[in-house]
Amino acid sequence: MNGIVSIDGILVPAGEARVSVFDRGFLFGDSVYEVVRTYDLALFEMGLHLARLASSAGRIGLRLPWMADRFDREVRRVVEAARDIATPDPAAAPWNLGECTVRIVVTRGSGEPGLDPGLAVEPTVVLIAVPLRGPPLDAYRKGISAWPFGGPGAPPRGGDPAAKTGEHLFQVLAVREARDHGAQEALVLDGAGNVTEGASSNVFAVRDGALETPPLGAGILAGVTRAVVLEIAGRLGVTARERPLPLAGLESADEAFITSTVREVLPVVRVGQRSIGPAVPGPVTRRIHAAFREAAGGGHNPGKPPASV
Ligand code: PDD
Repeated sequence: MNGIVSIDGILVPAGEARVSVFDRGFLFGDSVYEVVRTYDLALFEMGLHLARLASSAGRIGLRLPWMADRFDREVRRVVEAARDIATPDPAAAPWNLGECTVRIVVTRGSGEPGLDPGLAVEPTVVLIAVPLRGPPLDAYRKGISAWPFGGPGAPPRGGDPAAKTGEHLFQVLAVREARDHGAQEALVLDGAGNVTEGASSNVFAVRDGALETPPLGAGILAGVTRAVVLEIAGRLGVTARERPLPLAGLESADEAFITSTVREVLPVVRVGQRSIGPAVPGPVTRRIHAAFREAAGGGHNPGKPPASV
């Protein structure tokens, strides 16, 4: 693995990074995390990510050992140390070339194995900087397939959807099923058959020129990219409605897309066996992504090709 890791503030090459087998993150997924990314090696929306990290930690009663300014400093340090590790990827979207992601993980720490959180001695902070591996440019041009997972009668997803924790088995199984069907993302259905979010993304439908996306109360993560997209839609005069999104409603939409830090605004042209509209990225999705590209930047490093799709 190509990358630089910081463990409790000490930098090590990714291949040498180790934490204890008694760490509760390893044993129980007893941890919170964030994934942040760079544009031109500057961190994007770091304030929003650190606020969400604090919120996730609060929701599971985990005491963050560092204040926001220390996280900010240490993440910058690991990005600086990782700036030369990026490997060229000929299929990459141009705005992702030479960029990295940093996974910020805070576990409740190590201790005698047992569910009681009181057994943990001190939180562990791990920062993992790796070259950014986003979807290939072709995925933006042609769109991707998504596969529904869960729904009425299926075991519900566990945990608190509003907290970004290390516990991910439901999403792992969802992505496994999506991959088995040749899809690039899984869509999580609730017990009523509504689409809540992707396995690691938020979901939008476009109908009659307006955006529809499940509300925060629908059991989703408050995505940073989702918030940026809603803000952009407001600026562009595109109506956005936050309301439950039944699977049939997504299937009958004119367009669909997912949002996440690493994927930005990625068109979805098939859900399960069905095509969305004419099965090509639609005009509203393209307009929102173009505006996002404009706002986020990237691709301005000397020698980089232009940043648009
Ligand atoms: N995941 N919903 C879930 C369940 C997620 O895990 C994520 C992001 C999102 C999108 O959030 P944001 O726009 O803030 O990235 C929504 C990160 C990127 C991950 O696990 O890799």
